[in-house]
Amino acid sequence: MSTHTQKIIILDFGSQTTQLIARRIREQKVYSEIHPYTLDLERLKAMQPTGIILSGGPASVYDEDAPISDPGVYELGVPVLGICYGAQLMTVQQGGRVERAEKREFGKAQLNIDYTGGLFAGMEVAPAHYQVWMSHGDRIEELAPGFVVTATSGHSPFAAIRHTEKPFVGVQFHPEVAHTLIGTDILRNFIFGLCGCTPDWTMHSFIDATVADIRAKVGSDRVICALSGGVDSSVVAAMVHRAIGNQLTCIYVNNGLMRTGESEAVLRFFREKTDLNVIDVNASDYFLSALEGIADPEEKRKRIGYGFIEIFEAEAKKLGAVRYLAQGTLYPDVIESVVFRGKAPIKSHHNVGGLPERMQLSLIEPLRELFKDEVRELGLELGLPEEAIYRQPFPGPGLGVRCLGAITRDRLEAVRESDAILREEFAKNGLEGKVWQYFTVVPDIKSTGIIDGKRSFDWPVIIRAVNTVDAVTAEVAQLDFGMMQHIVDRITHEVSGVNRVLWDLTPKPTGTIEWE
Ligand code: XMP
Repeated sequence: MSTHTQKIIILDFGSQTTQLIARRIREQKVYSEIHPYTLDLERLKAMQPTGIILSGGPASVYDEDAPISDPGVYELGVPVLGICYGAQLMTVQQGGRVERAEKREFGKAQLNIDYTGGLFAGMEVAPAHYQVWMSHGDRIEELAPGFVVTATSGHSPFAAIRHTEKPFVGVQFHPEVAHTLIGTDILRNFIFGLCGCTPDWTMHSFIDATVADIRAKVGSDRVICALSGGVDSSVVAAMVHRAIGNQLTCIYVNNGLMRTGESEAVLRFFREKTDLNVIDVNASDYFLSALEGIADPEEKRKRIGYGFIEIFEAEAKKLGAVRYLAQGTLYPDVIESVVFRGKAPIKSHHNVGGLPERMQLSLIEPLRELFKDEVRELGLELGLPEEAIYRQPFPGPGLGVRCLGAITRDRLEAVRESDAILREEFAKNGLEGKVWQYFTVVPDIKSTGIIDGKRSFDWPVIIRAVNTVDAVTAEVAQLDFGMMQHIVDRITHEVSGVNRVLWDLTPKPTGTIEWE
């Protein structure tokens, strides 16, 4: 969908916080999209941006292979905001000078404002000062013609700049991060003051536009949707159902790698609380035999993905003519992020990759433009109950990546039983929905212990409980030690084949959240 009448286009130069800029703007109910700085000028023009933001980035403008966007950006007649590297690039492209600063400036700084219009409308000049967040090694040394300083900080005589005649502004600091206390005001001044946007991008308007889009695209054809019970697929299903009702069939596949009671709970939920038409397929034996003896995590993921394709294909054939597959692709999967450009993925996370080509289905991806928190908001707006919206994330390959190495039925059962105990204890202690993700893992090793006065040689259970905002980094949840001990006792006494429990206290990085 690209039917937004107003949009702020962010050109990404590789900053870790580029996504945050888009989120901060969307929080103001203005639509914003991220594109790599290499975006072709004609394409940018065709998008009819209301404003353009040049993001920060780790490079130096004078590096040989510095990322440089098309200078035609300044000829489009729309306001441009440069942030950090973006401000330096704007300066150089407009005829000024940037040099390496004597000292890298990193962390909080005090900003003194000289001009209370533009980005700083509604703020006060010195002696008032404002906390901002800096992270730069280069700095502007000489302004480009037509530019003036609008704010300074201890180390940056040109902490903020503006063109006196054109709507070009720049800041050396990062308005998108929470440490910049006036960050939201600055971004609001840009999008509303300089760009003249109106705050009308709401979930309500998003639903109306998307429903109309889906109806126009699908016509009277049939659509299938893989339902996992997770937030994304539930919201996709609810959205597509809102648009085309019973032309949608959802397929829930039990791959034998679900948690205790999960398949039953998911199916009960959809049957009792929604009008969705759900087919359930129990394919446990099929998946477990496809995984027999396979120890490599990527190969396991591949076989599980392939298994989904097989089952889907068979079910779709039974349904007759299906033309579309609705899928919960989110915006972070779509952004061609400059940060990760060229780097190999750490894990392949796509569950049903390969499905559309093989089945010759066209895709419907109504969440392509949304961040995870926006998907939750959308789900609530569509009337899905909170229990469907605030579930823990659960990987597509399920317990397959938590039963390490080659999966066996007995170790898989140990993962299931220990996970059920962990979830029960977390719920009892009021931690459900408070800790982002928690689960158990059973590795393929044994150690010596004593059970009922006898030597045992059994598996350990590993417990992982983490908090994160976006799963890109994660920290270990701090928990009550007494509760931890109680969980250890219950798992070692109640789960057969287990004599030890290990708590994983590794943040991400260096450990990923899942073990495989
Ligand atoms: P990692 O292990 O990469 O996990 O730190 C980040 C988040 O992604 C989930 N995860 C997966 N989700 N298919 C999925 O749908 C997968 O193969 C997969 N592997 C990890 C993980 O549970 C965490 O929330």
